[in-house]
Amino acid sequence: MIENKNYYDTIIFMRNKNIHNLIEKIPKAELHLHIEGSLESDMMFNLAKRNKIQLKFKTIDEIKKAYEFNNLQEFLDIYYEGAGVLITEEDFYDLTLAYLKRAQEQNIVHVEIFFDPQTHTKRAIPFKTVITGIRNGLVDGEKKYKISSKIIMSFLRHLEERDAFETLEEALPFKEWITAVGLDSSEMGHPPSKFKSIFEKSLREGLLTVAHAGEEGPPEYITEALNILKVSRIDHGNASINDEEVLKELIKIKMPLTLCPLSNLKLKVVKDLKDHPAKRMLDSGLLVTINSDDPAYFGGYINENYTALANSLNLIEEDIITLAENSINASFLTAAEKRAYIGRIKAIV
Ligand code: ADE
Ligand code: ZN
Repeated sequence: MIENKNYYDTIIFMRNKNIHNLIEKIPKAELHLHIEGSLESDMMFNLAKRNKIQLKFKTIDEIKKAYEFNNLQEFLDIYYEGAGVLITEEDFYDLTLAYLKRAQEQNIVHVEIFFDPQTHTKRAIPFKTVITGIRNGLVDGEKKYKISSKIIMSFLRHLEERDAFETLEEALPFKEWITAVGLDSSEMGHPPSKFKSIFEKSLREGLLTVAHAGEEGPPEYITEALNILKVSRIDHGNASINDEEVLKELIKIKMPLTLCPLSNLKLKVVKDLKDHPAKRMLDSGLLVTINSDDPAYFGGYINENYTALANSLNLIEEDIITLAENSINASFLTAAEKRAYIGRIKAIV
């Protein structure tokens, strides 16, 4: 009996080891990453010092204690407070490069990052300062770390649509740097339909659209994002698992979902990762991808998200390969670029 147990423990240990090796080495894209959510607490302290800003927290321990959230809003309150240390172009540049360094260590080959301009322009930081810092970080990061990238400008849905119009006006001189617009922040009570006109204008300007939907909100928000905002991807989309019709539609139109398991756990979208819908979604043929959302706040970057999910849902090697391929296929890269990255995945499996 005891010997049997050791035998099975060894098998499980070997299986996990193989999966973890695969997760680490497989080339992958990250499609749901808020650059402000990659602000690690040590950098937060350093920037607060550099910019002479008084933080609410005195020690790293105090910060870690504050990172216990019961829902999305509790997290957002802390996240916006943390972003207050970002002042200069150099701050945004440093933040972006620090993320790319981590990304390279985890074999990320392409990133499509969100930034929230209104979080900064509301504090009188010029739009140009924010986007120039991030853009220069991405350009230098591509040379240094060989990671290609796109920028997604997100509107804050707790603000009014007219605020988003002001932001788009400020963004238009920098349109060449922006691939898509997104929608984030407090979901409940702020349905996608609230932003119908600004998304229409963004599409007319040649920008693609994505939106957070069905993270805490109902499946109807996913339908609105598809039909009214004409999105190319749904960010999160967890609620689709509770609605047969929505699920069918997402599968039929091959709509990618950018799932963020550790975020869902920390924000209590799921009680336990064993309850996460990722595997059921994969098996039903949905085009799901795995991402880190706000890694500095949720306890892990992309590989920790893959690993936690693999452990909780008993993912197999084929699942990991599918997830990595999905991340490339769901990106805004050209068909030729996608083929090249998929070729790199095939070369290691
Ligand atoms: N902004 C940063 N992270 C977010 C999330 N998980 N949901 C909505 N808005 C966000
Ligand atoms: Zn997000």
